[in-house]
Amino acid sequence: MLSGKHIILGITGGIAAYKSVTLLRLLVKRGAEVQVVITPSGKEFITPVTLSALSGKPVICDFFTANTGEWHSHVDLGLWADAMVIAPATACTIAKMAHGVADNMLVTTYLSAKAPVFVAPAMDLDMMAHPSTTANISLLRSYGNHIIEPAAGELASHLIGKGRMEEPEEIVRVLDEFFSRPMPLAGKKMLITAGPTYERIDPVRFIGNFSTGKMGYAIADAAAALGAEVTVVSGPVSIKPTQPSVKVIDVESAREMHAKCIELFPGSDIAVMCAAVADYTPANPATTKIKREHSDIPVIELVKNPDIAAALGAIKKPDQKVVGFALETDNEEQNAREKLQRKHLDMIVLNSLRDPKAGFGTDTNKVTLIDCAGNATHFPVKSKQEVAMDIINAIMDL
Ligand code: C5P
Repeated sequence: MLSGKHIILGITGGIAAYKSVTLLRLLVKRGAEVQVVITPSGKEFITPVTLSALSGKPVICDFFTANTGEWHSHVDLGLWADAMVIAPATACTIAKMAHGVADNMLVTTYLSAKAPVFVAPAMDLDMMAHPSTTANISLLRSYGNHIIEPAAGELASHLIGKGRMEEPEEIVRVLDEFFSRPMPLAGKKMLITAGPTYERIDPVRFIGNFSTGKMGYAIADAAAALGAEVTVVSGPVSIKPTQPSVKVIDVESAREMHAKCIELFPGSDIAVMCAAVADYTPANPATTKIKREHSDIPVIELVKNPDIAAALGAIKKPDQKVVGFALETDNEEQNAREKLQRKHLDMIVLNSLRDPKAGFGTDTNKVTLIDCAGNATHFPVKSKQEVAMDIINAIMDL
C-alpha cells in the first residue's frame, strides 16, 4: 500500500533517531518516496549524509540552503505529502507542534501539511509521564494526528518504563494499515451545514442559538475519514474539523448559508443539514447600534428565513440524498416524520431536548433515525463521534 506514496519523514533530536534509518530503509523498500526533514538537534544524532543516501533526496533541515540561498518551501512540501511521520518525536517537538512554535523547518512543514500526520514519541519515562507531555499529546490527538504510542522497556537512560519509540516495522505496519483502510465514500461529495446562524439586529447584536457545531463537524470528520470529499458550510463556531481534507466555508446568517448551499448542492451527492438555522430574521436590521437612551422599547419585526433543507429537498435529483435533523421538545417522532415528508428528505435524525445527554453543546447525543420509508431506528446515548458513524452508516444504506 505504500508504493508510490509521498512520505515526509520528520526526525528530531532523540537517541531513537538511529531507528529512523531502518524506518527510512523499510519505507523506501516498499516503494514510498521519502523526503527527510530533520531538526537541527536531530543532526547531532544522525548524519544527513546517511539519510540522503538512503532516501535518494537531499535532507532538508533549514529554511534556506546556506551557500545557494535556495528556499525550501514548507508549503509545497506540505501539499506534496500523502503522509507525514515524525519518528522519533521528542517532548520538545511535540510541544512545538501542539502550540504552533514554527521555529524550524520540521514544525513549519507540520503546520502546512494537509496529509495525515503520524507521531511516534520517544523520550525518557518521566518526560513521557509529565502532565505537560500528556497534555500536548492530547492536543495533537485533538488535531486529528495519529499517535503511535511508545512501548515500555529499557530506555537509553537504562531506566525501565514507557518511552521507547515504537519499532520501525510496527510504524510501517500502522502506515500500511492506514493506507489500506476501506474508503466506502471515496468519490462522493458531501455538503454539510453545521453550527448556529446569527441574524443581525444591529451591528453588535444578533439572534442566535446554542448550537456549537459539534454534531455537524463530527459527521464531516467521519465522512472524510471514509474518503468523502466534504464541504462544511458553517455558522459561527469555535471548533475546527480534525480531518485536514474537510473544507470549511464560514457564513453568518441563514440567508448566506442558503446561498452557499444552493450554489454547492448541484455538485454534491449527499447533503446533511445539521445546522440550527434561525427560522426568522430581523426585517430591518439597524445600521447603527440601537441605544438605550432612545425613548421607546424597540420592537424587532421578524421575517421568515429560507428553509435550506426544504429548498435542497425540492431540487434534488434522484441520485442525490438529503438528510435533515429534527431537534424537538415535544411530540418528537410525529414532528420529525412530518418534517421528513414536508422537506422531501431521504432521512431525518431526531434528537430530543428532553434528553439531558442530547442536543446542543453536549459531547453525547441520543438519536432516532427515520428513513423515507418510515422505518425508525432508535439508538442509545453515544458520543457524537459514534453517532456520526451511525448516521454515515445509515446514509450508506440509502
Ligand atoms: O423545521 P426545523 O427547523 O425544525 O427543521 C430542522 C431541519 O431543517 C434541520 O435539518 C435544519 O438544518 C434544517 N433547516 C434548514 N433551514 C432552515 C430551518 C431548518 O435547513 N431555515
